[in-house]
Amino acid sequence: MNIIQNNARFITLEGVDGAGKSTHLNWLAERLRSQGKQVLLTREPGGTPLGEALREMLLHQAMHLETEALLMFAARREHLDKVILPALAQGTWVVSDRFTDASFAYQGGGRGLDEARLQILEQWVQKDLQPDLTLLFDVPLEISRQRLAQNTSLDRFELEKQDFFQRVKQAYLKRAAQFPQRIRVIDSGRTIEEIQVELENIISSL
Ligand code: TYD
Repeated sequence: MNIIQNNARFITLEGVDGAGKSTHLNWLAERLRSQGKQVLLTREPGGTPLGEALREMLLHQAMHLETEALLMFAARREHLDKVILPALAQGTWVVSDRFTDASFAYQGGGRGLDEARLQILEQWVQKDLQPDLTLLFDVPLEISRQRLAQNTSLDRFELEKQDFFQRVKQAYLKRAAQFPQRIRVIDSGRTIEEIQVELENIISSL
């Protein structure tokens, strides 16, 4: 639900590591810009100087799973306050590489943190703000694992085992089933061109 009274939209991209979301992120931002929209491209964890410092720790330092969840939401609080909400208020569209669905998928599904705790943090940090649209890039795990295997500098999440990613993927799909109006599952086992046609249709209906 967009609580801001202008046409700016908040779009988030999600998916298991290696599902192909990064390929479509820049294309999507450029496509929206070519339609005359002001677009801010950002990411989580990160998006602010403090958030980027937290990202560095989150991606490379071992920690308790609750610490991990709290830091994800701490970075998000800052991101909303300093970047996302001011941009939307000015009429700028915001495209974020990951947002709260990733916490439900990774900290909830992947690590097994109680969903009720995540809901409390979500309510605390976001109140009623939700993305207007979430694109969930979904591929068979064999494909995302193959893509990751080509990457030489893997972070703490990317180094997790197959069953972790299986749980992350299931948790994402559960979110998509819970919020079908907001979350669109994109079959990203197809060609880039095929996916772009689908994305074009989706954004034109916003
Ligand atoms: P990612 O988008 O994969 O960055 P890159 O493609 O540059 O490696 O994001 C970094 C990792 O952070 C990713 O593995 C998922 C994880 N993550 C969470 O576990 N919880 C969260 O709430 C967010 C936003 C990200």
